[in-house]
Amino acid sequence: MAVGIFDSGLGGLTVLDAVVRRLPEVPFVYLGDNAHTPYGVRDAQDVYDLTTAATQRLFDAGCDLVILACNTASAAALRRMQESWVPSDKRVLGVFVPLIEALTERRWGDNSPPREVAVKDVALFATPATVRSRAFQRELAFRAIGVDVEAQACGGVVDAIEDGDLILAEALVRSHVDALLRKMPEPQAAILGCTHYPLMQDVFQAALGPDVQVYSQADLVAESLADYLTRYPHRIGAGHEAAFLTTGNPARVSDKATQFLKRRITFQSA
Ligand code: DGL
Repeated sequence: MAVGIFDSGLGGLTVLDAVVRRLPEVPFVYLGDNAHTPYGVRDAQDVYDLTTAATQRLFDAGCDLVILACNTASAAALRRMQESWVPSDKRVLGVFVPLIEALTERRWGDNSPPREVAVKDVALFATPATVRSRAFQRELAFRAIGVDVEAQACGGVVDAIEDGDLILAEALVRSHVDALLRKMPEPQAAILGCTHYPLMQDVFQAALGPDVQVYSQADLVAESLADYLTRYPHRIGAGHEAAFLTTGNPARVSDKATQFLKRRITFQSA
């Protein structure tokens, strides 16, 4: 009965926390590829190879459904995985679509043609690989017309968070927000398009000002997963045990995760 949650490192814990709160009866197996983080500076083939290996590990742990709680993997690898790699009895879902459905005021899974929406100027903060992929703009264009997206590649933020250097992460966030505001002075909404960034959400909000609505993925993904599992309950796999797996150093990753989630988290080797 397990569902897999994958990220390149610690960022997916923001999603894990929300899905555990929303679906307390479901055992989740979390896998952080901390040995290979950050993904955001890698090329698409590299991200694909790492993401398929990690997803296979979660299938092996009894998960039939895996959520890529990583925008970089969702942007650079998910479509190719779904088209040619995922076995027919498994599912792999990303974190883009729930966010875009919220931004465009759609119900989960509403596939009607694109239409005009209230929000017009959107700031997107994401890793260099996610920005380069233009996956966010592509998914948005399926659902909305007339939305101007200005993207800011936030180099260094994931590394700083993974290193536990929150002072550096904060300084980098402020400078990336400044750079974005020079290109788009008055965004109505801002998307935190990397699952590490909710750990810095207050800093983004303060730098953007109170008039900008900041969207982050954790609760949106949790709601859409709950809806998905209501429609497809058999997608909960055979595994019964919740677990935290890492390709990195389990003691070090456990300490960082405990610091971020403010409860004791114990990782084991993947
Ligand atoms: N949390 C990942 C994301 O959502 C970070 C990617 C990285 O490792 O650079 O994009």
